[in-house]
Amino acid sequence: MTTNIAFVGFGGVGQALAEILLERRESLLDDYGLDAKVVAVADMMKGSIYDPDGLDIEQLLQAVRQKGTVEAYSGGAGVITGLSSIETIIQTNADVIVEVTFTDVKTGEPAITHCRTAFEHHKSVVTTNKGPVALAYQELSELAEQKGEFFGFEGTVMSGTPALRMPVETLAGNEIKSIRGILNGTTNYILTEMEKGQSYEEALSKAQKLGYAEADPTSDVEGYDARYKAAILSNYIMGVPIAHTEVECEGITNMSQEQVQSALKEGKRWRLIADITKVNGGVKASVKPECIEASDPLASVSGPTNAILYQCDLAGPILLTGAGAGLKETGFSLLIDLIHYQKTNQLAKIN
Ligand code: HSE
Repeated sequence: MTTNIAFVGFGGVGQALAEILLERRESLLDDYGLDAKVVAVADMMKGSIYDPDGLDIEQLLQAVRQKGTVEAYSGGAGVITGLSSIETIIQTNADVIVEVTFTDVKTGEPAITHCRTAFEHHKSVVTTNKGPVALAYQELSELAEQKGEFFGFEGTVMSGTPALRMPVETLAGNEIKSIRGILNGTTNYILTEMEKGQSYEEALSKAQKLGYAEADPTSDVEGYDARYKAAILSNYIMGVPIAHTEVECEGITNMSQEQVQSALKEGKRWRLIADITKVNGGVKASVKPECIEASDPLASVSGPTNAILYQCDLAGPILLTGAGAGLKETGFSLLIDLIHYQKTNQLAKIN
């Protein structure tokens, strides 16, 4: 059965997923039975387009890359332009909404409304947007369950590295008592470049060019992005709901080249560390720069790479490391959510 997909937001990450769907069309169908058809795109800057019979991905990417608008797509008579994001969610024949709008760190909007509207109208959601999961996980996951819809958000923490699904599925049966990690690619890239002698400003500008940083990089360098991820880990992995504001937070904006270099001379490294530890039925969580010993497993994590150390009561410490940011990697996180959507549907049919 075909899975109709609508993109809400169509920046680098959405385009990366579209490219993967185009390149792997046959293997996705053969290996997973995923027959994904892109029917709509709605983007605040790049316009909107809908064809109930499916859009040609190659042409769609060409339109957006060459003309800057999806409305330059030259489709047939059935093509509709000008639908808003909400109209795209409600009125199109999409089964799954790929929510990839920018993350608003204060309100989580409009992404929270997009997810809520999708579930209310019996559509599933896959997203890399941290806002809905950090701020409204409880409400949205309950609504999705009540409506029998799939809610996938693997890419909200560590992009395509399975920081959420691995502990929940593969490590099921363990109690995870604490999580400690490097959760932001941009700041880790900046600190690593500063170790090589680059200035903070040069390194930040490179991180922006490479697509690691958020639309507003303040979120990265002040630690807010990692704080959101810490809240997601507490809510989803540890089952302890906390607000992101409960996570103590300090970024790297006050760090100097001297500090970074002198730590290096002593064999140490500065890293922005997130720590979430269970205490008395709750959790204590923080994000702050720490000067760590070379023997610390997180010390060798450099560039945009992220890492998480899960302290499991049965399996012991498990270290997961991989990409924390990047367009292709984050696009992949949406693909793995779509494959799980497909598997969930197939299982539902068997039962
Ligand atoms: N800006 C984020 C980072 C992107 O640098 O980690 C991935 O969430």
